[in-house]
Amino acid sequence: MEGAKLTRRGLLVGIGAVGGAGAMYAAMGALGLAPSEQDKEFAAPRQGDFSLRGKGAAKVVILGAGVAGLIAAYELGKAGYDCTLLEAGSRAGGRNLTLRGGDRLTELNGPAQDVKFGEGVYFNAGPGRIAPWMVTLDYCRELGIPIETFINNNAAAYVHTNGQTVRARTARADMYGYVAELLAKATNLGALDRTITKADQETLLDFLRRFGDLGPKLEYEGSDRRGFTKFPAIGGGTPVEAPGTLHQILAAGTGRSIIGDFGYEQATPMFQPVGGMDAIVVKLKEAVGEDRIKTGAKVTKITTLADGVEIAHTGGVVKADYCIAALPPHILAKIPHNLGAQITTALATPAPVAAGKIGLEYGRRWWELEDRVYGGVTETDLDITHIWYPSHGYHSERGLLVGYYNTEHEAELYGSLSPEDRRNRALTQGKKIHGEKYRQNVLASASIAWHRQEHIQGGWVRWPSFDSSFTLLQRPAGRVYFAGDWLTHLIAWQAGAMESARGAVTQLHQRVLQSP
Ligand code: ALA
Repeated sequence: MEGAKLTRRGLLVGIGAVGGAGAMYAAMGALGLAPSEQDKEFAAPRQGDFSLRGKGAAKVVILGAGVAGLIAAYELGKAGYDCTLLEAGSRAGGRNLTLRGGDRLTELNGPAQDVKFGEGVYFNAGPGRIAPWMVTLDYCRELGIPIETFINNNAAAYVHTNGQTVRARTARADMYGYVAELLAKATNLGALDRTITKADQETLLDFLRRFGDLGPKLEYEGSDRRGFTKFPAIGGGTPVEAPGTLHQILAAGTGRSIIGDFGYEQATPMFQPVGGMDAIVVKLKEAVGEDRIKTGAKVTKITTLADGVEIAHTGGVVKADYCIAALPPHILAKIPHNLGAQITTALATPAPVAAGKIGLEYGRRWWELEDRVYGGVTETDLDITHIWYPSHGYHSERGLLVGYYNTEHEAELYGSLSPEDRRNRALTQGKKIHGEKYRQNVLASASIAWHRQEHIQGGWVRWPSFDSSFTLLQRPAGRVYFAGDWLTHLIAWQAGAMESARGAVTQLHQRVLQSP
């Protein structure tokens, strides 16, 4: 999948293309992305907020112990709120799931998988990367979770399109080279004479020469940037095969898979917690108190009352002063409530998006040993979409690749297969890129279809538009607040869940402080 598909960027780029930068900025304002009053720094509730006012903290029931629910409990807990989390599943964390040997993964309408990875091997089946500007890293710092670099963009990884495999650096060098050549030609033919001055054209040509590594005639003739099979360190090296013509390069379609470092969410460097993404869940659980999390408690009814809330679940009824509903919207939409018809409609508006991943454990790190790929992502037009190479454990004996990470149609396709068929299909596809070694030495595998996880039923959601339903749910309905990545412009990021939880906590705390 292309980066743009995952984020609001696709939407903004679409608007920008039609209306230009002005329309884009107006749209950003409408989406709440332009600077606003709400962009104030988050201040966690504190015990002192109450003692100064002679008040007590309230009792809050939180639906869902995913990242949003856990952060809400964690932040409210700082001020002494009495929080109870109701979690339908058997563990906290939601989509933050790291699988290790000994785990058992069940799924709707599918067989359970017993995970058999070797000791120390883990598979981040949900979130796997964190951008440095995201609040997720603030929580890692605050909770004492060590982080390490996650290599998202690796020039040595591959691009596989239309049956051809090239290194990402080669694909980039060729596309940038030819694009620079074309623009230089157009400039020299006078195509820009009415747009920019001659002096600006000279500056542009100078940039294009460097951007595309063009020859003296401003033509792209290949470039060292494309790489070598053997670097001529002491003479006599072998460059990779000469570039095709512009026509061949365009026909190969590699340009479609050049993601580079453009996206704000996925630019280098990115990070991951050492030892698995679920370190965040482990630390949050510790901080919140495990006894506050009731697992196996599926919510069956939500009632807001004049003076509190009443939440019925499969194990009983919880009464509290307030509720934070931190479940996926499509799950919430099915739970009976008295919050009004508009809320029901709003909750049913975002559509779940299927997403899947497979972890393949190998007995040999051939991607390092033979292909010299240390971390990063290979982009493909195959149904596996991506291959992720591990950003840790270099040179150790074993290692785990993400053999597919796909969404929508491709994720549904893999999800409909048995775990064994998913693995076989992923191996057959990966072989097209890496050759026969891809199918050898596979020690264990585990695959997830997020749309088939019983209490989650989607990788994330897509709003048809960020309309009044989106803003409606950012405010409380009676004494019920909503939280989740799905209520932010950081959908499919833990940071979205965290920001949203902070928003709900802020509103709830202000209300408690202001209440008589
Ligand atoms: N946040 C998701 C990812 O990193 C979409 O792939």
